Amino acid sequence: MYSEFVDFVKNIYKIKEGNIPLHAPVFFENENKYLKECIDTTFVSYVGKFVSEFENVIKAYTGAKYAVAIVNGTCALHIALKLNGASQNDEVLTQSLTFIATSNSISYCDSTPVYIDSDINTLGMSVEKLEEFLEKNTEIRNDGFCYNNITKKRIIACVPVHIFGHPCKIDRIVELCSKYNIAVVEDAAESLGSKYKGKHTGTFGKAGILSFNGNKIVTTGGGGMIITDDENFAVRAKHITTTAKVPHQWEFIHDEIGYNYRMTNLNAAVGCAQMENIDFFLENKRQLAGLYKDFFYNSGIDFFVEKADCYSNYWLNAILLKNRNERDEFLKFSNQNSIMTRPAWTLMNKLKMYENCLTTNLENANWLEDRIVNIPSSVRVQ
Ligand SMILES: Cc1ncc(COP(=O)(O)O)c(C=O)c1O
Repeated sequence: MYSEFVDFVKNIYKIKEGNIPLHAPVFFENENKYLKECIDTTFVSYVGKFVSEFENVIKAYTGAKYAVAIVNGTCALHIALKLNGASQNDEVLTQSLTFIATSNSISYCDSTPVYIDSDINTLGMSVEKLEEFLEKNTEIRNDGFCYNNITKKRIIACVPVHIFGHPCKIDRIVELCSKYNIAVVEDAAESLGSKYKGKHTGTFGKAGILSFNGNKIVTTGGGGMIITDDENFAVRAKHITTTAKVPHQWEFIHDEIGYNYRMTNLNAAVGCAQMENIDFFLENKRQLAGLYKDFFYNSGIDFFVEKADCYSNYWLNAILLKNRNERDEFLKFSNQNSIMTRPAWTLMNKLKMYENCLTTNLENANWLEDRIVNIPSSVRVQ
């Protein structure tokens, strides 16, 4: 079976020699053209038309009212949490099965993550475990905020993640959190193009963030975006990510400690060109997922498919092996045979920086960690 898989991947990518990557970007002519325009006009840095054009394209595409381009998705998360008030002694609910940036952005605010278990059906945060945690362990105090009765800390926000582009049950999570006055910041870094009940991921909570890292469905090289329907939030995000400079033709006045988290015109130029092909990327990846689904049918290995109410961008295709041993055997065989595959991230609570964080029972996250393998998912162009 494993060698059939290797042959199958080589065949669908029409590559006989060399490595097949997990996710390589695909560029067409306009990336070059728009980059050349930046260079020819000298607008390579923070000034230039492409940043606002890219923000407008993302707004129109996701349906968010406002979009603020940021240097990367991690910084976008940092700012989205900070603007929701995350600070020292606060806690942020999130999940242990995610990329490190989710936890790190919480730490940048001097807040502490609390890890809620995952949902085996969606790979995202488990609604049931979240509800149980909130019911059993929290209270709303006179100041209107939700407090954790175990740690006595304020729970200021919740960051659910749409893992590998598969939407989590975001409507239920937002509903629950609003009952407890907890702001939801959606980590939609991996899910540009994915929808839940017809609505784009990242547009359910107070704010959402996207990533345009080189391995994402649409890349700017490095880049991120905050999306929100809250005008004040968007204005604040723009201000503090652009060094909090008060607009003036020549004076340098900054009215608070800001960040240099701006996206450059060069990066945004690439993003504008990439977004012209988002429908092609989505369709191409959906076809690839269909081929994998058929290949793994009745094979004893589960291919992870999109669930009811979800439209997935199938950013990274995932399979589930029977146990950790089989997972490791599969990883070894495929990587030794030039097919790049990788396991899910080590759970956050197993990393030394986060090992003392409070968690719910993480039976599902552990189960998934033992079984998930990501397989090559690049758009195929011949
Ligand atoms: C779930 C998740 N959150 C956040 C990020 C951070 O995005 P970036 O790499 O653009 O900083 C990524 C990806 O890279 C991610 O996969």
